[in-house]
Amino acid sequence: MKSTAIANSNIALVKYWGKRNEKLILPFNSSISMTLDGLYTATTVEFSEKYKQDSLSIDGGHIFGEELSKASVQLDIIRKLAKSTLKGKMVSRSNFPKSAGLASSASGFAALTLAATKALGLHLDRKELGIIARQGSGSACRSLYGGFVEWQKGTLEDGSDSYARQIAPKDHWGELAMVVSVVTAKEKKVKSRAGMAQTVANSPLYKAWLETVEDDLVKARKGIKEMNFTLLGAIAEMNCLKMHCTMVTTTPHIIYWEPQTVSMMKEVMAMREEGLECYFTIDGGPQVKILCLDKDVKKIEARVRENKDVQKVYLCHAGDDAGITKEDLF
Ligand code: PMV
Repeated sequence: MKSTAIANSNIALVKYWGKRNEKLILPFNSSISMTLDGLYTATTVEFSEKYKQDSLSIDGGHIFGEELSKASVQLDIIRKLAKSTLKGKMVSRSNFPKSAGLASSASGFAALTLAATKALGLHLDRKELGIIARQGSGSACRSLYGGFVEWQKGTLEDGSDSYARQIAPKDHWGELAMVVSVVTAKEKKVKSRAGMAQTVANSPLYKAWLETVEDDLVKARKGIKEMNFTLLGAIAEMNCLKMHCTMVTTTPHIIYWEPQTVSMMKEVMAMREEGLECYFTIDGGPQVKILCLDKDVKKIEARVRENKDVQKVYLCHAGDDAGITKEDLF
């Protein structure tokens, strides 16, 4: 009745932005990500008659309100499958700041789904786990797999064909690195969920996003399979800029970038001009993640650390599948 899972966070190289079904969390477009080895969430879930209600603790703090109810809804989906009415205690810890654009909801919901299904004795494959994890946070279905992962948007109304699959395992491209720079650890004001809904509702550029994203997916898959860094990096950077353009042009505007974000973007462009090949990507927050190859990573990391705005740097490579661990958090 108690189980602990660990899941790595993942950063999309072709982003998921916009839902065709808000409740089931079904996306308008497929997305491709890299699972990161350095950023993870561990979650222990215990179901017991001694608990009168679900409870959630994240990084040592008790959580109530919307975040607790989202986690409870996730447990409801799993309880229904397991035919259980037991309440659950959830304790979660990440080794990186939450809600700041480092995909803590992806690793969080992947770990929660895996731990809770295991605790209730369900034996599900990763496709089934992905369909559940996706309903907590869309990008969570990608964190169930290591390496390079695609979340297929699917076309069915019930979401049964909208889940993730691995494009390539982590060892396929061990030299690909991601330097994650935290320029502010502030929690973001607009959650991705609200940001996406507003973009779909009123960005004049959303149609262009959907028209061009298929081609980005084809090129990103090819870039990963052939380990063509220039192709993958250029597509990832452009896709990120296109996504941000859709949200900047909503009313009211959603601008996740801080001045430090823009200065880091320019730094990446400058390094590239100097011959240090690297590309940026940014999610629903101010942090800048820099894709590069191991041969240049030391120099690039040093340049990032020199920047006075940078508070923390994580050096990541492609990480492992999510999994169960014996080290319970309580
Ligand atoms: O899965 P959510 O609701 O955290 O949304 C993720 C949105 C982006 O990070 C901006 C893009 C992505 O594909 O991860």
